[in-house]
Amino acid sequence: MIPTRQFAAGCVMPAFGLGTWRMGEDPTRRRDEVAALRLGLDLGVTLIDTAEMYGDGQAEEMVAEAVAGRRDQLFLVSKVLPHNADRTGTIRAAEGSLRRLGTDRIDLYLLHWRGRFPLAETLAAFMDLRRQGKIRFFGVSNFDVNDMEELAAVAGGGDVAVNQILYNPACRGPERRLMPWCRRRGVGIMAYSPLEQGRLSRPPGLVDTAARHGVSQEQVVLAWLLGRDGVVVIPKATRADHVRADIAAVGLRLDEEDRRRLEKAFPLPDFDGPLATA
Ligand SMILES: NC(=O)c1ccc[n+]([C@@H]2O[C@H](COP(=O)([O-])OP(=O)(O)OC[C@H]3O[C@@H](n4cnc5c(N)ncnc54)[C@H](OP(=O)(O)O)[C@@H]3O)[C@@H](O)[C@H]2O)c1
Repeated sequence: MIPTRQFAAGCVMPAFGLGTWRMGEDPTRRRDEVAALRLGLDLGVTLIDTAEMYGDGQAEEMVAEAVAGRRDQLFLVSKVLPHNADRTGTIRAAEGSLRRLGTDRIDLYLLHWRGRFPLAETLAAFMDLRRQGKIRFFGVSNFDVNDMEELAAVAGGGDVAVNQILYNPACRGPERRLMPWCRRRGVGIMAYSPLEQGRLSRPPGLVDTAARHGVSQEQVVLAWLLGRDGVVVIPKATRADHVRADIAAVGLRLDEEDRRRLEKAFPLPDFDGPLATA
């Protein structure tokens, strides 16, 4: 059973979901991608993260195919590209995503990263979309503390439910300032690229922990992230064995000793750098 998290604006969402970046790009892979998402849904996943950017809209269409007939059990996340994110462009972009996703509502709609349009315009459009029932909750992605502070001062800023960021054991910078800032205001963290896009570094502390539990190193990393307060994890997996392993990691419990070993193997940086992005 996948636990839920509750964030600002009353947004209740699953703590684990499947990502779709780099899906929808190659028609010859589409059948496998649809099958991977369907397998995830069969195994209890209810959150899917996508974006208008992924495969230039093709990922959203692939998601529509995968979720056909089960929309009502799902929590769908999509994102508007910054160059579309003025007041009218955001509405148009959301309507395009709704059409491609084959649904009448997006559960959580994010600004993919910060662009040139004033945040007030994007948030005004998000609130229009929410009033019209086209989105249920909204949030941002790749926002650092200074961006979050600016956002909080804009009308609707207090209703930002999540900030989706690059966060994994090898990239713990957000723990210094951004995550405490978000936690204090009820803003959830969606950890993207939790497996470092398949290029996980494997220090002995990770290898030992995985061996101790008889699981893979990737599963340990997902369990470590899932054990953190206010964090939602969205790995991407196309291979069926990866989908199964990632979902099984939801049930993996790390103890204090595991956490200490892992946090020693992947130390917190001792300086405040800019937010890293994919
Ligand atoms: N907001 C943003 O700017 C942003 C940026 C990046 C990503 N995202 C979101 O976050 C999602 C996840 O991030 P990501 O796609 O960058 O990378 P990721 O989830 O860190 O890594 C995906 C890679 O890990 C492999 N993998 C998955 N499960 C595995 C397992 N149990 N054992 C071994 N390998 C495994 C996958 O292989 P296979 O596919 O071959 O199974 C794939 O190569 C994206 O899909 C997207 O939805 C958002």
